[in-house]
Amino acid sequence: MKAFNLQLRFLVPLVVVLTAAAYFALPLMDSLTLRWFARDMNMRGNLMANTLSESIAAALEDPKGRKLQQLFNRAVEDERMVAMGWCSPTGELLTRTASYPRELSCDDADRLASETEPRLRLPGGPVHVSAHPVTAESGPVGQLVLLHDLSFIERRSLDTRRYLIALLAGVGIVIALVTMAVAQLSWRGWVSGTRALLRGEGLVRPLGGGAPELAPVAAELRARLRDLEDEYRRYQGHEAEWDAPRLQSLLRSQLRGDQVIVVSNREPYIHEKGKDGRVFVRRPASGLVTAVEPVMRACSGTWIAHGSGTADRKAVDRHDRVALPPGHEEYQLRRVWLSPEEEQGYYYGFANEGMWPLCHVAHVRPVFRESDWLYYKTVNQRFADAVVAEARSEDPVVLVQDYHFALLPAMVRRRLPRATILTFWHIPWPNPESFGICPWRQEILEGLLGSTIMGFHTRFHCKNFIEAVDRYLEARIEHEHSTISYKGEQTFIESYPISIEWPTRDSVSEWASPAECRRQVCELHDIPGHHRIAVGVDRFDYTKGILERLHAVERLLEKHPEWRGKFTFVQVAAPTRAALEEYQAFQQRIEQVTRRINERFSAGGREVVRLLAQHHEHEQVNRLYRAADVCLVTSLHDGMNLVCKEFVAARDDEQGVLVLSRFAGAARDMPEALIVNPYHVEEVADAIHRSLTMPPAEQRERMANLRSTVREFNVYRWAGKMLTDAARWRLRERISERVQRHGAPEEERNAANM
Ligand code: F6P
Repeated sequence: MKAFNLQLRFLVPLVVVLTAAAYFALPLMDSLTLRWFARDMNMRGNLMANTLSESIAAALEDPKGRKLQQLFNRAVEDERMVAMGWCSPTGELLTRTASYPRELSCDDADRLASETEPRLRLPGGPVHVSAHPVTAESGPVGQLVLLHDLSFIERRSLDTRRYLIALLAGVGIVIALVTMAVAQLSWRGWVSGTRALLRGEGLVRPLGGGAPELAPVAAELRARLRDLEDEYRRYQGHEAEWDAPRLQSLLRSQLRGDQVIVVSNREPYIHEKGKDGRVFVRRPASGLVTAVEPVMRACSGTWIAHGSGTADRKAVDRHDRVALPPGHEEYQLRRVWLSPEEEQGYYYGFANEGMWPLCHVAHVRPVFRESDWLYYKTVNQRFADAVVAEARSEDPVVLVQDYHFALLPAMVRRRLPRATILTFWHIPWPNPESFGICPWRQEILEGLLGSTIMGFHTRFHCKNFIEAVDRYLEARIEHEHSTISYKGEQTFIESYPISIEWPTRDSVSEWASPAECRRQVCELHDIPGHHRIAVGVDRFDYTKGILERLHAVERLLEKHPEWRGKFTFVQVAAPTRAALEEYQAFQQRIEQVTRRINERFSAGGREVVRLLAQHHEHEQVNRLYRAADVCLVTSLHDGMNLVCKEFVAARDDEQGVLVLSRFAGAARDMPEALIVNPYHVEEVADAIHRSLTMPPAEQRERMANLRSTVREFNVYRWAGKMLTDAARWRLRERISERVQRHGAPEEERNAANM
């Protein structure tokens, strides 16, 4: 259609020009033709006059003039000759043929004949008038007046006009057709060229292989399209964005509203008894809780966890259940009680002195004690029993969380063989050699293979797990489908990168502005207003790279003295596993290094490093994120790390720089952060300096992309992908059961073999 319009724009002027040409050319051509014919007529008249002169002279001898009359009558039989007249030397009309007009006197004829267009219109049509003196031997005898027929000229002119109009029309049509063809071809060329640009081919090679001049246009167009796409993604959100309602509808449709049970060690809300004896509720510093809690709210299921709070027993009903979140009651928490010995052996001992350092490879030796292992087994069984007790059907969906419950999947499988068990390992999985350190490696692997689906944050961890199974168990591994078959059961190994809940508009609207957050943070921690602020937010754990971060801050101040007196580093370190020696020693070491740095670089009585070794509520942490110029995440090894995602979610002003360890799973999906090797102090110090001097436009560009990624790959997507895989698995199981029992239609058999 557009091509047609373009052609019309060209063709209409063409038709106008051709019409105007015909309008002016035809009269001109007529007058030229007439002149040519007038000349011919005159020559013909002269010829006739000469030929007839003798006959006329002889005829004049007849006094009655009959002979002359007869001669003229014969002569006008010529079809081109209309009439003839004979004028005496004195100008008197003596003889004329019948068709000669009476009113045409000899003088008139003479005058007319001398004009450039000697024409006269008679009733029979136009005639040409010519006058020819006739001379005899005796001298001039008179003048012959000839009237030649001109009507044939009018006929010819009419024919010529028709031919000319047909010719111009033909030329016009030919030009139009050629134009249309050329326009079509070039339009198609442009269309395919533009398509090539959109596919990105225009930047790689000249369009169509032959239009290098379009390369700059291609680059420009591509850049513009990218900008538009970015803007669209940032401000409109992703079309298929995962959120709570979408997850709920997935549960209703694909899982037919089946019961969802979560098992984790850490509970989402802890009831504590305050110093005044009053009970208050606390949210633990836990990435697991941050991720799983919004999913649980959407699922309305049952969460089974260790009741570790001092007032937890007071808050539950007689079935050890409490509805959460407080005041909203969207799901049930079933608390499991552990004795101090059990907690010591299972949680502190086997899980956190054995499995934790084993999986993190952070240069802290794993400790494996037989007694811890026995408690680990006992507690896993206790939680498995709780799952069975809470199950309302024989095939619930059970979401097992983390390294505290490596044995539980197989325990549940034994009691509920039809359950769908999804186990998610929140920490890294080491290579087979490192994993081989564990004396109970085989039992751990067997326990985990009770799962229907075994999830890790990254493909790399999946690969390590499959290799460990390959090394230590007699299992069949199908790499193509990422499945492991062991003792007749199949487990699907997949990566599901965990994330956070993206803040809603309502919650964002309640946040103070970044400037206000900054003012509050400065006031709270006595930081001068002009200082640049870097933050770190972690559990007080040796895997988080807090020591390396402090060394980097120290190096920054050595290398760039210009930051002294202008920079403050705030480190939130939430107490964790403080009963363990390794953690106590780590905390002491951090405090010691902090003191040293402060002694070296504090100015005006204000510490350059603020170590806040206490629990902070989400609102406080969010305020810190919004106040900061830089966020430092320097884990030595981390499954994913959600602090970096929380920082990004907090920066709706698209400012602030994220410095992120390449050993955190998050680094794979967040390339716009400044990615560092935390062991390389110099590199981290340089990254901090670069962050502090980064122009706002670059910060915006990086932060906008990070936000778009985290928003799209949010926690609902994490859960949604796992539950979609679980639903597919359940469907497959149902179909294959039916096939085995009764036989089934062909399409069902095919589906079962998917
Ligand atoms: O990262 C592993 C993990 O279990 C997380 O899932 C959780 O955020 C964190 O450790 C908390 O540890 P704990 O429950 O021992 O305080």
